[in-house]
Formats: sequence, C-alpha cells, structure tokens
Amino acid sequence: MSDEVSGRSEYIHGSSPEEQQRLSLLNDILNESCLRELGLRPGETVLDLGSGLGQFTRLIARTVGSKGHVVGIERDRDQISQANRLAEGSEEPKLVEFRKGDALELPLSESEWGTFDVAHARFLLEHVPRPELVIAQMVRSVRPGGRVFVCDDDHDDFRPWPEPPGFPALWQAYVRSYERLGNDPYVGRRLVSLLGDGGLTSIRNTCVFFGGCAGNERFEAVADNLIGALEGARDPIVSGELLDEVSFNTGMDGLRQWKAHPSAALWYSACCAEGIVPN
Ligand SMILES: C[S@@+](CC[C@H](N)C(=O)[O-])C[C@H]1O[C@@H](n2cnc3c(N)ncnc32)[C@H](O)[C@@H]1O
Repeated sequence: MSDEVSGRSEYIHGSSPEEQQRLSLLNDILNESCLRELGLRPGETVLDLGSGLGQFTRLIARTVGSKGHVVGIERDRDQISQANRLAEGSEEPKLVEFRKGDALELPLSESEWGTFDVAHARFLLEHVPRPELVIAQMVRSVRPGGRVFVCDDDHDDFRPWPEPPGFPALWQAYVRSYERLGNDPYVGRRLVSLLGDGGLTSIRNTCVFFGGCAGNERFEAVADNLIGALEGARDPIVSGELLDEVSFNTGMDGLRQWKAHPSAALWYSACCAEGIVPN
C-alpha cells in the first residue's frame, strides 16, 4: 500500500535535543492560551494525539483533575522517553499515561473506543498526508456528545516584519519541504471542513496568537521558535535541493538580524476548531 493510501506519515522536525528544546519553548508560549480555548471541565477523560513531550498533556491532566483521566499517544520513542522524564522531574509521573502508537491507528483497547469526552491534537495534522484519517480515529475514540478539538498551522498566515532579507525564499522552501513529504502546510484553513466531513456538528473555530514584537516579554521565545524550526529543517531543505546552502544561510542570517531589530514583529496565529460527535 502506498503512503498516500495508508496515510502513513513522516515527521519533518524529528526528536533531536535541539528540536525537543524548541518544542518546550513552543509549549511555554502557547499552553495557557490553548488551554483556555480547549475549555476542559473537571473529571473529563481526554485523549491527546501526537503528545510530543507531554507538557500540554500534563496541563490538560492537571485541569481535569484526579477524577479525570488523560492518555497521550505519541509515535516517537524518544519523545515518549523525554515526556516521561519531564513528568518525573516535575513530580507528576502518574498524571498522564503516555502510550506509544500511531495517530492513524490508535492503540486503544476494545473497551476504550467511543468513551473519551475529548480528543485533542495540536500541530499533528500538518505532519500527516491524510489528516482525515486522524480525524476519523478521533471521532471513533470519543463518546456521543463528546468533543474533537484540533489546532494546527497555516503557513501562509506568517508575517515577520520588517521582512528579513532572504526570508521569502527560505520560507517557501520550508513550506515545500512539507509538501515534499506529502503533508499539507496549509492544513489550518481546512480544520472546519475536516471536522464537518468527519461527521462532527456544532463546529466552531478560533485562533490562538502565536506572534509577538520587540520589547514584548515573549518575543525572544517566539523568534527563537521560528529560527529553531527553520534551522531544524536545514537538511531536508538543502539536501533536498529546495534551496541552495548560501541562500539558506542568507535567510537564517536575515532572521537573526530581524530578531534584534527594535521594531521586529511577528504576525501569526495558530488555527483551532472543535466539533461535537453526534448522538
Ligand atoms: C509539533 S509536535 C507537537 C507536540 C504536541 N502536540 C505539542 O503541541 O506540544 C508533533 C508531534 O507529533 C508526533 N507525530 C507525528 N506523526 C505522528 C503520528 N502519525 N502518530 C503519532 N504521533 C505523531 C511527533 O513525533 C511529534 O512529537
């Protein structure tokens, strides 16, 4: 079976220590706003797909409290190990059950299917060629009347200003590296239709601001996340001949200079949508 048919996915960012550090940074920036949008209630059972290092998964677990239950599903062994280490370091080793598995074929027991109150996935759909297959798994995992909540990128909605020299070519190559893997870098705009096509009702959408500007306390983290994501994609971009090395370096130098500009601003929001599983 081809990957396009099976929906099998490849994750562009990997799980190197640098990438794990970037993922932690991303969590520091976004978690409180994402949690507000997720609107959890105490006692809920939650499935988090593509749980990564598990920081947000643990925040979810703290929010639903001891009467709730949270399972994180993650395909990469290194991410799970680090998620467990971070949980132990925070003295929360039993807060979340991290399970190794693929979001395209959830590792749930017979008795678990159709029982979760909420299925959540953040920054996962952009890494799978057929996001509708992930949505179908999420819908199956949730009880009637429960919620499916997804949050993802639309790489078209991304504006650093003043525009760093060499940035447009670098960004275009980065976006194409997603397409090269068969993934959709613009999946954010499709979230409502994906949920509708998946049979969900009462769909709503919103955005979580993921930008910042010079002088703002979170700007350094926001800029470092951007620089880290692009640096981490150097190999697929340069070895994959999506951009030559000189142009890649020009774009990265431009970004580092932009970060130090007194009026630097990044305009960007993550797309979020949720729907209800019909009774
Ligand atoms: C960008 S990270 C986001 C992690 C986490 N959701 C967060 O927001 O912090 C995407 C994660 O999804 C995982 N992943 C990618 N494809 C997957 C799949 N098919 N099944 C399960 N996990 C997957 C990656 O290993 C990575 O840890």
